[in-house]
Amino acid sequence: MKRTIKDFDLDGKKVIIRCDLNVPIKDGIISDDTRIRASLRSIRYIIDNGGTAIILSHLGKIKEENDLEKNNLYPVSVRLSELLGVKVKFSNETRGDNLSNMVNSLNKGEVLLIQNTRYEDLDCKKESSCDMDLASYWASLGDIFINDAYGTCHRCHASNVGVGKLLPNGIGFLVMEEVSKLDSIMNEDSHPFVVIMGGAKVSDKIKVIDNLITKCDKLIIGGGMAYTFLKSKGYNIGTSLLDNESIDFCQDMLDRYGDKIILPIDTVVSNSMDSNDYRVCNIDDIHDNEMGLDIGPSSISLFIDNLKDAKRVIMNGPMGLFENDNYSKGTKAIYDYIVNNNIKCLVGGGDSVSSINKLSDSSKFYHVSTGGGATLEYLEGKILPGIGVINEK
Ligand code: 3PG
Repeated sequence: MKRTIKDFDLDGKKVIIRCDLNVPIKDGIISDDTRIRASLRSIRYIIDNGGTAIILSHLGKIKEENDLEKNNLYPVSVRLSELLGVKVKFSNETRGDNLSNMVNSLNKGEVLLIQNTRYEDLDCKKESSCDMDLASYWASLGDIFINDAYGTCHRCHASNVGVGKLLPNGIGFLVMEEVSKLDSIMNEDSHPFVVIMGGAKVSDKIKVIDNLITKCDKLIIGGGMAYTFLKSKGYNIGTSLLDNESIDFCQDMLDRYGDKIILPIDTVVSNSMDSNDYRVCNIDDIHDNEMGLDIGPSSISLFIDNLKDAKRVIMNGPMGLFENDNYSKGTKAIYDYIVNNNIKCLVGGGDSVSSINKLSDSSKFYHVSTGGGATLEYLEGKILPGIGVINEK
């Protein structure tokens, strides 16, 4: 078992806590604060137990100077202060005398958020390449390292793996919860076990499908990725999303596991993603100039039939272009069925949080993961570096 935040005496300690505060922000406005809320419990625990919380997080990607302003973490410190009910200090610098002085002057129970760790990527990708000089500097600011950035656990970066190698370490409450829910749903022996996959590209999900297809009883495929499967069966998919390089993989999966794989039988098509003109058609009636943007009503019924006795479900990715109300019905119908029938369902990977927040109620699910790539890699069966670096008890 991994060491956790609860295994430390935090009184009087400076705790470096890596959170994943990578939230959607436009013009300084946060449109979804789920990840900030998910980080509160560990931060509160640190200050309530006499520690000082020094928070590291990335925000977006920093490739050029222009990326700095739009990925400035300052608005997150303001929202975090509101949610925590404690003033969060903010360091605009990721290293240097000003930051070190700020850290030295922190008292018990205070919270400091350091500017986006990926600001260090402008200078030779120091954060993303896990530069150990940078990690040593951050480690020098504290006594203990807690990794609570579940969504970043698949990255081997200076602020998670690097610092983790240099200080006494443990996982925070969010990482504990995410891992225990994933372990539970993957490893319990209840059947039928149904996996629902959607989202855009088959190639991003090949390893997940490989790992789950032998464990599950049914694999339901919707969303953009369904069209590559349908193409491999010989259907005309018009201008729908096609992942050419994955056609052979889909063909092979259908040859070997055709009895388990459930594909859409009808679809909602339009000439363009932005058009409000659409029609429902059978899967063998897509015109050359049309693209499938949601599953149709018969597919919803078929998918629900295959969910009827499910004892556990993992859902990864939406059934259509849920951001547009015209194409959100398939995803919503599946969420509604799961919630109304109390099916034990873990939703994770990719766009899950935003689709649930728009179409359903996350508190009604067994678990809605805050991780995108991290959850996908977990479902591939990988050991995530951000967890691997934490010592056993
Ligand atoms: C995420 O949004 O999945 C995490 O915050 C990791 O972000 P990244 O893909 O930019 O590393």
